Amino acid sequence: MRHCDSHLHVSGRSEYVDDVPAPAGMLHAAVFGSPKAHGKILSLDLEAAKAIPGVRGVFTYEDIPGSKLIGALALDEPLLAQDEVMYHGHPIAIVVAETPEIAAKGVLACSIEVDELPVVTCPREAFANGDLLQETRVFEKGSVDPVWAACDVIVEGKVDLAGQEHLYLETNRARAIPREDGQMTVYSSTQSPSATQKHVAGVLGLPMHKVEIDVKRLGGGFGGKEDQATHWACMAAFTAKLLGKPVQLVLGRVDDMRMTGKRHPYKQDFKIGLSSEGKILAYEVSHFQNSGAFMDLSAPVLERTVLHSTNAYAIPNVRIRAAACRTNLPPNTAYRGFGGPQGMFVLEVAIEQAASKMGVAADWIQSRNLVHDGYVFHYGQEVEACNQQRTWDEAMERFDIEGLRKRIESFNAENRMVKKGFALMPVCFGISFTKTFLNQGSSLVHVYTDGSVSVTTGGIEMGQGISSNMIAICSRIFGISPTRIKSNSTNTTRIANISPSAASATSDLNGNATIIACREILDGMLGVAAKEFDCDSSELSIREGIVYQGDSATEMTWEQLVLKTYFSRVQLMAHGFYTPPNLHFDPVKGYGRPFHYYTYGTCLIETTVDCLRGTYKIDASRIVHDLGRTIIPTVDRGQIEGGLAQGIGWVTLEELAFKEDGRLASHALSTYKAPDAEFMPDEMELKLLENVENPGGPLGSKAVGEPPFMYGIAAFFAIRRAVEAFTPLKEDEIRCPMTPERVLMSLYPEFAGSKSEVSC
Ligand code: MOS
Repeated sequence: MRHCDSHLHVSGRSEYVDDVPAPAGMLHAAVFGSPKAHGKILSLDLEAAKAIPGVRGVFTYEDIPGSKLIGALALDEPLLAQDEVMYHGHPIAIVVAETPEIAAKGVLACSIEVDELPVVTCPREAFANGDLLQETRVFEKGSVDPVWAACDVIVEGKVDLAGQEHLYLETNRARAIPREDGQMTVYSSTQSPSATQKHVAGVLGLPMHKVEIDVKRLGGGFGGKEDQATHWACMAAFTAKLLGKPVQLVLGRVDDMRMTGKRHPYKQDFKIGLSSEGKILAYEVSHFQNSGAFMDLSAPVLERTVLHSTNAYAIPNVRIRAAACRTNLPPNTAYRGFGGPQGMFVLEVAIEQAASKMGVAADWIQSRNLVHDGYVFHYGQEVEACNQQRTWDEAMERFDIEGLRKRIESFNAENRMVKKGFALMPVCFGISFTKTFLNQGSSLVHVYTDGSVSVTTGGIEMGQGISSNMIAICSRIFGISPTRIKSNSTNTTRIANISPSAASATSDLNGNATIIACREILDGMLGVAAKEFDCDSSELSIREGIVYQGDSATEMTWEQLVLKTYFSRVQLMAHGFYTPPNLHFDPVKGYGRPFHYYTYGTCLIETTVDCLRGTYKIDASRIVHDLGRTIIPTVDRGQIEGGLAQGIGWVTLEELAFKEDGRLASHALSTYKAPDAEFMPDEMELKLLENVENPGGPLGSKAVGEPPFMYGIAAFFAIRRAVEAFTPLKEDEIRCPMTPERVLMSLYPEFAGSKSEVSC
């Protein structure tokens, strides 16, 4: 089976929010964002904008009819700035006009006077100022302090880890349509329709049942629309209410890039201690998260950073400090991996530095410390059904790591200006929302009298293939062709209290719910057939659209049984609800069993660096990945390759450059470089671990959305190995991403000058 939307996508016929024909009289909104990163608003002049012919209204904080504050965890964010602007691009006013062009002109006519306040963009500086979004937290396993003395090798260092722009193809957007009796329908590009519903209702001052959110699909989300699609939906909705007309708000690329939060940049301090045999005995890390101006999802992102701070390694003594530092940047937010990559990255730096000091390869240390069954993580969860070592061993053997090491050594000995390097990255990623209550999924399955089937779940199709997975699941449980099944938009009137499509858990939660709904319908249908054949329904099944008794086909088709069921007045629709068992997590102590299971894998990345120019090529990525039993192989491969591409992009090309005044300089695709197909490895090898079952996932599958992202981290270290083959690496602070510019400076530190790049 293919991705069910592929024929629509390639022919350009799939519908996104603004592809649906506009309702009569629809108006267009544009956002006036702050030209300063921090300051008090002295005056706001909107008269010139209001006077433009075709402008129907300009709205500010004062005009919001209901709650003026939004926020997933804390209502700490004014929908529009009230008297203080907190970041460059901070929305202040909304211009609504007859066309998008007039609305844009209106925005240009808005003017503001700001009494500027100090702009802080560095989390260490915010930390020093005590400007934190929550109390700094410390998590420990064992005790690091007494162990340092017993270590044969200790290294300490600092990391400066950049953020990442989501760069979904479809920018944030919403269309709000006022309905009878004060109701509002919103078509939104959100990963979280129920959160959007709740906030739109709040902003309008309506009960939630008067607000309907509908989402057919997103042109990518990657976490960027988990919480931050809400704002635009609220803006479209309240201006639509005030004007009594449909309003659509589509962010242009530059506005989307400068007004929305990104992957959190972190600054980190680490200290690692090992025995001479390469066992990690103690690890200490401090995470200074650059949270941006408001809470958004910073606390749970930081929590996952803490949980994944030891990645795939068994470490007896651990101390992790975590600070959420408020800065004058847009509130940073969810992004594939949700803080996990930041937690894992710094440990790989620590291992690299220890390896360098010990004169061994990093993979020698990695291989001696992998997690195993019975290991208990610092947050209390015991590892079960662990496949980490299997993925590592298969990678070592299948990719002939020892042969590769020799080949690269001799290549580097023979070539002066071109060098090669490789690195391995084991990944152990916990599957579940760490907010335990979010681990619930719902599905509504309808079988119509002609035998066609429709399925609606809480899952959002954002290109990842959730619709295809749901169709495949219905098809397998019912025993009918996928062509008879349609997946519907996600809609809050059909499914209530939807968890965001996030945490890699969407197929697990909604897929298991779909299985429950399908089984309920099927039980009823087989009961009807059992009467017909005068047998026990346990003898009956449906295969390829035919009713079977034992192993023999009967004369009865799926369609005939559907009709019989209908005429027997037995239900042909069902709602399934699923929640994974045995999850518990105390977020205050940071202790419990937050994850349903883990996804394991190991990735090898090989690179070549041009030591004259600093440019590089990713030659190969080779992955051994534990997927359980894949539902649709091409969909899973798409997730693995896409995640890998984003992970490689994060540590290599993608550079968010903020000016000292808090302005995002790389605010367009001309200045923000993301990997393209050409940049991706020529050889992308993927080996799925065989004979693995996952009782926790639907049809034995495993979650796949986020874990492959972290494979990309290997690219950073592979490039550094190549650079190191040219000249020793000298740095006070390890900085990520490794852009070609930075590679050039590390190749020729003498030309890079004594003044290092601006840092704090
Ligand atoms: Mo995802 S980063 O959990 O929206």
